[in-house]
Amino acid sequence: MNIIPKPQAMMIQGGEFIFAEVTSVWISDDITSKAFFMDYLNSIIPNMKAGTQGKADIEIHRIQDASMPEEGYHFQVSSHAIQITAADDPGFFYGIQTLRQLLPASAEQGVNSLAGHSIPAVNIEDYPRFGWRGMHLDVSRHFFPVEFVKQYIDMIALHKMNVFHWHLSDDNGWRLEIKRYPKLTETCAWRVDREHEDWRKWSPIEAGEKSTYGGFYTQAEVREVVAYAASRQITVIPEIEMPGHSSEIFAAYPELSCKGELLPVRPGSYWPNEDIFCAGNDSVFVFLENILDEVVELFPAKYIHIGGDEARKTYWKTCDKCQTRIKTEGLANEHELQSWFIQKMEKYIISKGKKLIGWDEILEGGLAQDATVMSWRGVAGGVAAAKAGHDVVMTPTSHVYFDYYQGDPKTEPQAIGGYTPLKKVYSYEPIPEELNAEEAKHVLGSQANLWTEFVKTTSHAEYMVLPRMTALAEVLWSAQDQRDWPDFQKRLQSLLPRFQALEWNYSPGTFLVDIVPGQLLNKDEVEVELISEQTKYDIHYTMDGTDPDDSSLLYTGKLMLKQDATIRAGLFDGSNSMGRLAERDFSFHKALGSTTAYKLKYHVRYTGGGDQGLVDGILGSENSRDGTWQGFEGNDLELTLDLGETQEIFRTEMNFLQSTKSWIFMPEYLEVSFSADGENWRLIQRVDNEVSEKDEDISINRLTADFPTESTRYIRVVAKNRGVCPDWHPGAGGKSWIFCDEVMVR
Ligand code: ACM
Ligand code: ZN
Repeated sequence: MNIIPKPQAMMIQGGEFIFAEVTSVWISDDITSKAFFMDYLNSIIPNMKAGTQGKADIEIHRIQDASMPEEGYHFQVSSHAIQITAADDPGFFYGIQTLRQLLPASAEQGVNSLAGHSIPAVNIEDYPRFGWRGMHLDVSRHFFPVEFVKQYIDMIALHKMNVFHWHLSDDNGWRLEIKRYPKLTETCAWRVDREHEDWRKWSPIEAGEKSTYGGFYTQAEVREVVAYAASRQITVIPEIEMPGHSSEIFAAYPELSCKGELLPVRPGSYWPNEDIFCAGNDSVFVFLENILDEVVELFPAKYIHIGGDEARKTYWKTCDKCQTRIKTEGLANEHELQSWFIQKMEKYIISKGKKLIGWDEILEGGLAQDATVMSWRGVAGGVAAAKAGHDVVMTPTSHVYFDYYQGDPKTEPQAIGGYTPLKKVYSYEPIPEELNAEEAKHVLGSQANLWTEFVKTTSHAEYMVLPRMTALAEVLWSAQDQRDWPDFQKRLQSLLPRFQALEWNYSPGTFLVDIVPGQLLNKDEVEVELISEQTKYDIHYTMDGTDPDDSSLLYTGKLMLKQDATIRAGLFDGSNSMGRLAERDFSFHKALGSTTAYKLKYHVRYTGGGDQGLVDGILGSENSRDGTWQGFEGNDLELTLDLGETQEIFRTEMNFLQSTKSWIFMPEYLEVSFSADGENWRLIQRVDNEVSEKDEDISINRLTADFPTESTRYIRVVAKNRGVCPDWHPGAGGKSWIFCDEVMVR
């Protein structure tokens, strides 16, 4: 029974239901969407006809059962019938999706009949864990036609998800017809075509150049999409960005920005986001309120998303009107001005009977009274908002940004950055640990975001979300304690042919092997697992740093390491190597398992395995997020090791990561001191860094201190953080990081 998301409860009974040449369906008359469900079933069941109650192969009943959870359904299969019962329309629809997943994938392509196909007798009771199970789509950076938007909704529906967040406006194009402001779609929806160039390095717009790339949705199309989604139990949340990510509007309405200058629509990256609405100009609010008047008519959703992210206040600081507004409203600064802006919009949205939702920046300067927060810059915004009693939707970049790489960047199509493979998505827990049970009720759920700077085609968009949304669907629907990665992988294999039948392009996932160490046992043994997303291929590996081939060791189960090793592992289809090799170093040195004391702790996001992470024998890889690197933001790493007994030492080695694009630099120098008693210290050696800070490549560099053999019990290492990013760096003045793993003592 390969159902995704996994049902809450499922009992397989004896026997099976076997389909005949024709399949009869009966739906109770008291189901309001009966006609739609009939049509829908007709589209997924070949050779279907209407049946009569008590005699049909498939029967759908309404039950009046107060104990049935919202959106829940029962699905019962016996040898003579399939019964779906529910109390609300979403329940019926999800019951139908479960049925659909139990039919052969070929049914999606209109085979003639299901004759002979069988479903095991089963009793399923099912309902979702979270009420907000969303997918976002950015149609500004690249425009996607209405047919694809409907297909995207079909993809959401198959996964029993229920929110489509439509990102309709941004710096690269306005996408929604507004009758009152026709220039929004005549002008602001179009940009000069730079599709052949790098998104971040587009050539200047020439005088008189025609704007030919773009598009927009007419109001009739929007109504069609909203209705299409509604019948599939999906709410469409429109997003209209303000005050930032709005520069496309100044291609037609320049008077609404602080500078008042005409600004052609950007054909590529636009950063930093400085041309934003003038908060001191009353016409801006008239304009936005007039737009919202049309938006609320088009979208029946309870929520209107107003963006609110990444608005640089550069011009607000120098704009007379904005500064006057700050004074007359008694605001402290530009953050409070943004807050004032959002609160003003919230009043308007509430007056229209709707609720405001925005990205977590709307917390800065004070949150609007009844606003819902979409937490994207990690979970901190969501935690703060939930603790303050606001509803939140969790969309952290770390797990649910589907514009990030899902496989080895060296073999994947270009993405914006990051690394969010399927397994990472599957491991996501939407309720942050920091929340107690009461606060956690404010977490409505989660959604994945697909920003489309690097996604130009519909098939690429499909590739970015499939099957990551399959993993997210299970995270959001199924019970947390039912989460089982190997079992999910197995069920996924049976969903992929359905994607194929539907002609939905999906990613085969990453072909990299994960080399996953377990706990250090008895200070001299470590357990290592080799894990792959792929189930069809063999894993071959070596332990001596040489490249494996199909004659190398075949992985069959956990490895036990007892000495220094460099494991290299890869996937093989026969003798063909699939994808790149993974590598991981293990070091069995004298400080393994020793007691550690930090002057200042590592950053909560980069704990590198905690207090024992730098003495666990497992060395960090080039992936800064592999869980082994310990990060220090702005401050030095100062660590004291107690070896437990006096030992003869002649060398210490420490690995540091440099990844300047991620603001991670080598320490300036390293100092090693010894102590016999943990109180009186002697400096043994200082090692200077020699790696250029201008080297853009990600590198792992070792700082080695060699000295004549000495006896010591305590060792102190101090790695000097440069403190701030250098002047030439995009993060100039911002805190610099050092990343360490590990402290090897010889
Ligand atoms: C965002 O990714 N700027 C919400
Ligand atoms: Zn202004």
